[in-house]
Amino acid sequence: MILQYQGRDIAARRNDTLLDVILGAGAEHRHVCGGHGFCTSCRVEVLQGGGNLSPVSDLERERLCSQAGRLRLACQTRLLGDVEVRVPPPVFSGFGPDDL
Ligand code: FES
Repeated sequence: MILQYQGRDIAARRNDTLLDVILGAGAEHRHVCGGHGFCTSCRVEVLQGGGNLSPVSDLERERLCSQAGRLRLACQTRLLGDVEVRVPPPVFSGFGPDDL
């Protein structure tokens, strides 16, 4: 099966976590808590094939709130088929010093 990550096709095995597939391919991807599901730095946005991922876990619902499903924790999500994901763009959270 194929994980498309940031536009790059990566061959993967069923039940591998997205994070393991991404890092195993030599790509850089944030994973601050080391894959324990605490930090959310590994989150990815699902672009296609969300049904080919393991079900959203309680931990993901807790960490990602209403975005769980559209966003997934790469360290907690397992690949079941072809999927396309990307690093989500930063969320605008208000005005900073450069906006004044
Ligand atoms: S690496 Fe921290 S939540 Fe996935």
